[in-house]
Amino acid sequence: MRSGLSAVACALWFYRLRGSSMCGIVGYTGYREAEPILRDGLKRLEYRGYDSAGLATVTGSGLCLRKSVGKIADLADVLQRQPAPGTSGISHTRWATHGEATLANAHPHLGGDGEVAVVHNGVIENHAELRSQLQADGFTFRSQTDSEVIAHLIAKYLDGDPVEAVRRAVSRLRGTYGLAMISPRFPGVLVGARLGSPLVVGLGSNENYLSSDASALRGYTEDVVYLLDRQLCVLTPNSGNVLSVELAPAEPVVHRLNWDMEDASRGEYEHFMLKEICEQPEVIDRAMAGRLDEVDSTAHFGNLSLDPQKLNQIDRVIMTACGTSYHAALIGEYLIESLARLPVEVEYASEFRYRNPPLDRKSIVLAISQSGETADTLAALRESKRKGLPTLALCNVVGSSIAREADCTIYLHAGPEVGVASTKAFTAQVTVLTLLALHLGRLRNLSASAGTRILDELQQMPDLVRQTLDCHDEVKRIARKYHHVSNVLYMGRQYLFPVALEGALKLKEISYIHAEGYPAAEMKHGPIALVDEDTPSVFLVPQCPSYDKTMSNLEEVKARGGPVIAVACPEDERIAGRADDVILIPRVAEHWQPLVAVVPLQLLAYEIALLRGCDIDKPRNLAKSVTVE
Ligand code: AGP
Repeated sequence: MRSGLSAVACALWFYRLRGSSMCGIVGYTGYREAEPILRDGLKRLEYRGYDSAGLATVTGSGLCLRKSVGKIADLADVLQRQPAPGTSGISHTRWATHGEATLANAHPHLGGDGEVAVVHNGVIENHAELRSQLQADGFTFRSQTDSEVIAHLIAKYLDGDPVEAVRRAVSRLRGTYGLAMISPRFPGVLVGARLGSPLVVGLGSNENYLSSDASALRGYTEDVVYLLDRQLCVLTPNSGNVLSVELAPAEPVVHRLNWDMEDASRGEYEHFMLKEICEQPEVIDRAMAGRLDEVDSTAHFGNLSLDPQKLNQIDRVIMTACGTSYHAALIGEYLIESLARLPVEVEYASEFRYRNPPLDRKSIVLAISQSGETADTLAALRESKRKGLPTLALCNVVGSSIAREADCTIYLHAGPEVGVASTKAFTAQVTVLTLLALHLGRLRNLSASAGTRILDELQQMPDLVRQTLDCHDEVKRIARKYHHVSNVLYMGRQYLFPVALEGALKLKEISYIHAEGYPAAEMKHGPIALVDEDTPSVFLVPQCPSYDKTMSNLEEVKARGGPVIAVACPEDERIAGRADDVILIPRVAEHWQPLVAVVPLQLLAYEIALLRGCDIDKPRNLAKSVTVE
């Protein structure tokens, strides 16, 4: 075995986990029975949201595999009846991305005839081609998941060295992975590999751990090593090695975690909402993963079953949704009309389902829903299907009702959104709607050069949103100034009008302050009567074609003594002299502005609610999914 880990302990209050794995992984190898440790670790990761769970251990006679759909408590019931003996094993909680929440799709997955067991976080983009190649090699698949291809690949290469087998397998993968593997042929050996989905090694004495999140190891060890992308680790009860995927030894740094015994299930974040706001850069990445086609300057969706001929006959897109998803749909309207020159209508689902509008045969209905269970949106979808219209859904939850009942569904891959106030789902919806607008545009008159520019700009968005998060301290200052007010107005034009609506909804939902969003020019048609020194107005006024007009509206508010909070660009000299407070966002083309402009509004609502002592993740009167009419 190569040299062990060099221990350079350093005090670390918490480690800033960039990104979040959508599922949970725990691995163990040591002198103790693995099962209780694996199960306990999964419970620590329960907050991430999941729909199935499982574990595998290496026993004297081979592999022991136990799974359940539903909660970890259900897995515990299974283990009560059928224990999983053994001192090394892996476990997983799954948030479905490929394939619904079924027992067959739950992890761990077996490779070959049980030569290996694997758990995996991430998305394998080339899983379909690998699956057919492995089937041609005689491997039998038991699930619909992309993860199973990894298990069979490792089994295919497992001829003497488990690390080499994992190395060869991951070299065939395109996409992201955080994975752990065990094999009855190598008792006590636990191999991990990471690319784009977190993995952390926990160091013990005569035992070692592996997890997707250090919080699962709390109470077992304080010494951890965070694997970097393209690194492997191989653990036994008495040794631990970290290697590059080229098998060169790595000199990892051992971090000492001073566990803050407060609830560490949210990582270092005080609320899920803040965690979900901060992981939006990764969410945009995941919404794009595997969907960008740089050869044809367009975007593709794996399961968009509507072929180009059918899509080209469409002459109207009707989007239907509720709440934040409705606001995302309004941005989608601007995007699709701009890039595809297709007429779009956006309807509140609760109105659409009863209004009985005349719908011509060449319309398509697009239902947008994070949960996929919103009763009004589901009813609008069913009404559209009853009228024989093709239906498409944008959902975050695989296997949800709307996802199952639409003719085809595009998933957000945003991971579970726990905070009741939707944030990262909105960003994922806008990203996917941009890809859809590009796809439709390139089927029509959008040029390849325009498509290439869109793709180039879109790939910069994660970093630009990450930069935007730096406004947090300025937002905290502004929140301290205005957290006592009773009314707030939000104004924006064009692509930023729906963002004004979304900013107002966020504030209403979690701080209980009355807030309204308007198209900025609408102020003169009534709302400006509300303006006084106790009613701040938030103006979204980055550089864009309507900048001057919006500045005039801002001046009208100032002239009546209303305080103004401006969301603007750094190079704007005019704004400093006119707004009372300024929050800076990066300068981007107009159609990208929603992705950056929404971030300060999410943070403003969060910080004001915090100061008002509200229950941010579970606001009064609200449910995460409104499954009743
Ligand atoms: C958004 O912050 C709210 N929680 C709510 O408006 C939500 O967007 C709406 O209920 C729609 O939910 P869905 O996206 O799951 O359908």
